[in-house]
Formats: sequence, C-alpha cells, structure tokens
Amino acid sequence: MIIEPRMRGFICLTAHPKGAEQNVKNQIEYIKSKGAIAGAKKVLVIGASTGFGLASRITSAFGSDAATIGVFFEKPPVEGKTASPGWYNSAAFEAEAHKAGLYAKSINGDAFSNEIKRETLDLIKADLGQVDLVIYSLASPVRTNPNTGVTHRSVLKPIGQTFTNKTVDFHTGNVTEVSIAPANEEDIENTVAVMGGEDWAMWIDALKNENLLAEGAATVAYSYIGPALTEAVYRKGTIGRAKDHLEATAFTITDNLKSIGGKAYVSVNKALVTQASSAIPVIPLYISLLYKIMKEEGIHEGCIEQIQRLFQDRLYNGSEVPVDEKGRIRIDDWEMRDDVQAKVAELWKEATTETLPAIGDLAGYRNDFLNLFGFEFDGVDYKAEANEVVNIDSIK
Ligand code: NAD
Ligand code: NA
Repeated sequence: MIIEPRMRGFICLTAHPKGAEQNVKNQIEYIKSKGAIAGAKKVLVIGASTGFGLASRITSAFGSDAATIGVFFEKPPVEGKTASPGWYNSAAFEAEAHKAGLYAKSINGDAFSNEIKRETLDLIKADLGQVDLVIYSLASPVRTNPNTGVTHRSVLKPIGQTFTNKTVDFHTGNVTEVSIAPANEEDIENTVAVMGGEDWAMWIDALKNENLLAEGAATVAYSYIGPALTEAVYRKGTIGRAKDHLEATAFTITDNLKSIGGKAYVSVNKALVTQASSAIPVIPLYISLLYKIMKEEGIHEGCIEQIQRLFQDRLYNGSEVPVDEKGRIRIDDWEMRDDVQAKVAELWKEATTETLPAIGDLAGYRNDFLNLFGFEFDGVDYKAEANEVVNIDSIK
C-alpha cells in the first residue's frame, strides 16, 4: 500500500517501513563514521525500539560489535494496517545486524511484567550466558506492578501550584497560553511508580540473582533536567519526582552490584523530539527555540549523536567516567551551556504565533516528529507501494 502520515492530535497513526529502515541505516552509518568504541560485547537494551534506546542498541552493535537483546512494546503490522514505528525500526536493525554477522534478538511485550523478564532471562541464559551492559530506556504512560497487580498511570503536572506559560501546537504553529492545575499526592505516587526506578531495580535484581551479569557489568538509565523555563512542569513536577527516584535508585543498584564490581549510572540527556516529549505542554516550544540556537552554534545533536558521545567520551573512554556532583553523567552539557540558555530565555519572551517561524525551528521540529514515524527521509520513495507486513527476524 501507499503509506502516508495520518495525524491524530499529537500522534501519528501510521508508520513507514522503508523510512524506518532508512532511519536505522543513517544511524548505523553515523556510528561507523565515528570509529570503534571499546565498549560492552553483550548488551541488553530495555526500551530498544525507538529514541535513546534504539540509538544505544545501534551504538553497541555497530560501535563495539556487540551481541544485543532488545526488549520493547510495539504493535506488529497486519495486512492493510501499519505497525508502530519501533517495530519497523527493530526489523531493520536486526536485518542490518545479521548482515554484519552480529547476534541480535528481540522480545516484544510488557517489560514491567514478570513474564517478559522471565523470557529475557531465559534468552540470555541460553544464548549469551551473561551480559555486561544493561541499558534501561523505557518511556511509558502506564505500568502494572507485577507484585501488587495495581496499574499506575503517570501524569505531567506541576506540584504545589498551577503552572501557566506559553506553549505551541507544532502542527499549526499557534502559540497560546496553557495552564496546568497542580498534582495531588496520588498523581505523584503514580508517576513515580511508572517512571521512577522501581522496575529498573527489579530487572537488575532478577539478572543478578540468576548470575546473568558479568563481572564489572554496568547499567545505565536516562534522565532529564532542563532549564528554569520548564522546571515547574518538568523537573519540579510529577515527572521530576520520578526522575529523582530513578537517580536515587542508581545508588541502590550500585550497592547491590558491589559483589561483582558492577555499577549503575544515570545519564542526563538532551531534550529531543520523541513521541513522549511532544505530549508535554511547553516542551515543544522550548525545543523549537533550543534547536534553532544549537543548530546555529553547530552543536545540535539527535539521539544517535548523544549516545555515541555517551559511549565514546563517558562510559568507555578508557578512564574514569566523568560525573556531576550528584553522580550523574551529563550529555546535556551543550544544551545547558549558559550562552545557549540565555539565548533561549531571550527568545522565549518574544515567541508568538507571528514570530516563531523566524525565531524558532518549527520546521525542524515537524521534520523530526515525522522522522519518528519513518516519514520525510531523503532516499525513500514515499509515492511507491510499500509492504506494510514486515517481520522481525527473531520474532515468530
Ligand atoms: P521513546 O518513547 O522513544 O522510547 C521508549 C521505549 O520504551 C520504546 O522502545 C518502547 O517500545 C519501550 N516501551 C514503552 N513501554 C514499554 C513496556 N511496557 N514494555 C516494554 N517496552 C516498553 O522514549 P525516549 O524519549 O527514548 O525515552 C527513553 C528515556 O530517555 C526515558 O527515560 C526518558 O525520560 C529519557 N529522556 C528523554 C528525553 C527526551 O527529550 N526525549 C531527554 C532526556 C531523557
Ligand atoms: Na528508548
């Protein structure tokens, strides 16, 4: 069928398999162009199909020749209906990995569940013996705790008081004011239950209990901080509480890994266009101004550039891993540069529906958004028939 983007609100209902393949190939080419990384050889990526997790899987495989197991939650295609983008990304990734002679298998299902953890442990046991790196890159609005059976839903709200600021509908370019009422205690607890560190710790416990972590194994989860402009709704809001919990969990996990000389890290990454970040009010306006400035300065990065730098310059740089005063790896260093933030704050004041096309990178935002779904890639003939039913090699 001929596949076109079909938008509904902040989501796109379709995805393009050829575009997803191009996306994966572009990321592989980038990693190869940067040279070998002396990284882990057996890697488990939880949340491996899109965004930072996909970039982590590609960087491990094509930067360090690693065997990878990827866990994700994606919708397979059926005749006449496309898959979710991460399905096509993973199909393309496995195909490229196998062509390059690399081990790559994937598990599609709810990573929060006991069943998917069991399946993953068994696969590691059977095929790899142990892993030496575990990337934890889940972004989800909902989690059912397997121990309690309770389903938690995360919310994106400020804490303490109503937050009012500008936001943009990036489809129309309309800049408006948005007000978000504050969270209650239950909202906070639920958001921490979904996006905090509890499930990360459960994964590492399960792996360690069955001796599936190699001596000196590392695990990394991703966090965000961002500027004062978004603080009330992000870092000091409900999601920020979850990130505080995730960051604290790194220390608990490190204690747990002492006996094998292992370590848990949180890496603070840059603001990027993903399905998750597009749904957060205020963030798209911030990103469109930030992109404009970082591109002008020649310091703009996407997920793959960020993760390449994380692996090469931080995790596997041949010496100490540089961290901040709270023990976090910072690859948001260029986003958070004083000169960059001062310019964003200046432009923020001027941003209106009329000024934004000139002072912000709305076009770049839209392009990146469509790229998430496999659209707008050079080298793909979007007018041609594409087969929507694409299989992932390792998934029957
Ligand atoms: P994403 O939506 O692109 O990726 C999420 C991944 O999680 C996908 O592979 C998806 O299939 C998987 N997933 C979701 N629910 C699942 C489930 N129940 N079981 C198994 N897999 C599941 O998100 P992303 O932006 O790459 O975010 C990854 C991490 O990076 C998050 O912790 C996020 O907070 C963090 N981060 C994001 C940004 C940003 O600007 N996007 C910045 C800094 C940090
Ligand atoms: Na991810």
